[in-house]
Amino acid sequence: MRFFSQLAGVLSLLLVLPVHIAAFNSLIVNTNPNIALSYLDSGAPRGVSNYPTIFAIHGMIFSNLVFQKIMDLAPSLGVRVVAVNRRPFPGSTSLTAAELNVINTGGSGADERAAQLDTRGHEIATFISNFITQFNLPRMSADGKTGGAIILGWSVGAPYALAAISAADSLPTPIKSTFSTNLRSVIVYEAAPIAIGLPTPPQNWNALVDNTIPANLQLQAFGQWLTSYFDHDISKRSLDGLSWVITSPSRTPTLYSIAAAKKLDAMQELGADAQTDLPMLFFFGDQLVASYRKAFYDANVAALFPKLKRSVLCGNKTAAFGINGFWAIQDDQKVNGPKTSVTYKMMSGTNHLGHWDDPSTVLNAIISLA
Ligand SMILES: *[C@@H]1O[C@H](CO)[C@@H](O)[C@H](O)[C@H]1NC(C)=O
Repeated sequence: MRFFSQLAGVLSLLLVLPVHIAAFNSLIVNTNPNIALSYLDSGAPRGVSNYPTIFAIHGMIFSNLVFQKIMDLAPSLGVRVVAVNRRPFPGSTSLTAAELNVINTGGSGADERAAQLDTRGHEIATFISNFITQFNLPRMSADGKTGGAIILGWSVGAPYALAAISAADSLPTPIKSTFSTNLRSVIVYEAAPIAIGLPTPPQNWNALVDNTIPANLQLQAFGQWLTSYFDHDISKRSLDGLSWVITSPSRTPTLYSIAAAKKLDAMQELGADAQTDLPMLFFFGDQLVASYRKAFYDANVAALFPKLKRSVLCGNKTAAFGINGFWAIQDDQKVNGPKTSVTYKMMSGTNHLGHWDDPSTVLNAIISLA
């Protein structure tokens, strides 16, 4: 049953239902109205009428299959998990040549980059709104505590989750209304500072910046390091207490358990498609930080999403950038959003692939932030 519902969910959900094509199309430059995002769906949990739905946005390299373990667990915890593939990951519409040009070169200027990021946000918000309508999901209650939707933005997925919120004011009215009256929580889950446009510290290291690694092996080496465990000293809250390079012997990198489960080939995207995220982070810093601060701290956004709970989630054995990003938001909030309520949750013992290695810890943490 569960397998069947996930399989059925691989069908693409057309982002733009026929009735909305004109409005959507008129808002978005360079976007074909027939844009689809593919997804996996854990299905409605049995016997729960007012369950919440978690829309999970993946990061670099790993497609939405990376959320399979929390999808398997979702019915028993009374929630539904829908894992979306971002463009251009498998089953979702490819990026156009014009879009790739803006992403890979920075485009003609700040306005074009901002419009591009808004478009990515609109796609996710529209997907969620259409999913709520098409599958008649339990709506969010007036107190924001039951039903409704949660966006989980993992790693490089976080800026796309945040863009869905920061760009919501320019969505067509019916989509904006469904989205904003049902979104109860946004969770930034282990985003590096660069993913939200905040500075990268001098301690930063990863295989992608090590040019002694042959170019064709850099992504793979990155994947191995990224899915390792790290022994940090986080007690002093100092970047120098983090283990930026050396991995922990305490547990095997998740890459190998995924490989042992024979899922690696299906889950990992190492081709050109997967490589659009890096230039986006590199060129779009100003837009990413503006989008994150708007989604988290802007008064008009708060008015549009009156029940929205904002959270930052991180495992304490994850790669250093995750803890760095967690602290960076805490520091940034003191300056840019001192009056906004943000919940910070650190998980014990999990790494960057906690949703694969420790799905119960991670899904329970997500539910606690819903
Ligand atoms: C992670 O959190 C657990 C529980 O608080 C703690 O026992 C452990 O020492 C922490 N690990 C690190 C690396 O800080």
